[in-house]
Amino acid sequence: MKGIVFTEFLELVETKFGIKTVQDIIDACDLKTNGVYTSVGTYDHKEMFQMVGKLSEIQNIPVADLLQTYGTFFFSVLSTSYPKFMTKNNLFSFLESIDGYIHPEVLKLYPEAELPRFSSEKINDSEMQLVYESSRKMSDFAIGLIKGAATYYNTAADVEVVKSEADGTKVIIQISCIDA
Ligand code: HEM
Repeated sequence: MKGIVFTEFLELVETKFGIKTVQDIIDACDLKTNGVYTSVGTYDHKEMFQMVGKLSEIQNIPVADLLQTYGTFFFSVLSTSYPKFMTKNNLFSFLESIDGYIHPEVLKLYPEAELPRFSSEKINDSEMQLVYESSRKMSDFAIGLIKGAATYYNTAADVEVVKSEADGTKVIIQISCIDA
């Protein structure tokens, strides 16, 4: 997984919980990198799960909640860092474009990126479903990103899991706009 995902995670942990917590989670995890990441490097995504798991223990916050919060924060990082990918003018067109446009563009920039697959189905003007598929099982991170995208597009929306395969590699996420 790209280093930006790690560096921004540690940045957020520092802002929310302080530098001591950053050091505590790095010390408590047996990380090959020793917690040293550069934004352009590529690292094992399991290190992220180790650190999130430790933060969850220390702060007594469920892992799913931490990943969602991080996803929402990461969306604002992405939309600021890559404004040229923010070409769509509403939430649903944007979400429909992740798999066919945004992530393929990311792969052009970083051929070693490991990205999930998404298929989308618009149910009606205010509801759509995204099917998340990835061996990395980061659907909670995806939910956080989607919530970040809703905020970016000034759209009030509920984002919920409709169905999850037992091991989390395939998850159906429903996005329901509240005031559409
Ligand atoms: C709501 C919109 C988006 C969703 C739901 C989404 C979803 C995800 C998820 C879940 C991952 C983690 C990898 C995995 O699960 O296999 C990921 C990785 C990533 N995404 Fe997206 N993404 C979105 C938008 C974007 C945008 C706008 C960009 C930026 C241009 C972007 C760039 C990346 C990058 C750089 C990674 C890391 C890949 C790696 O570490 O190898 N994504 N995305």
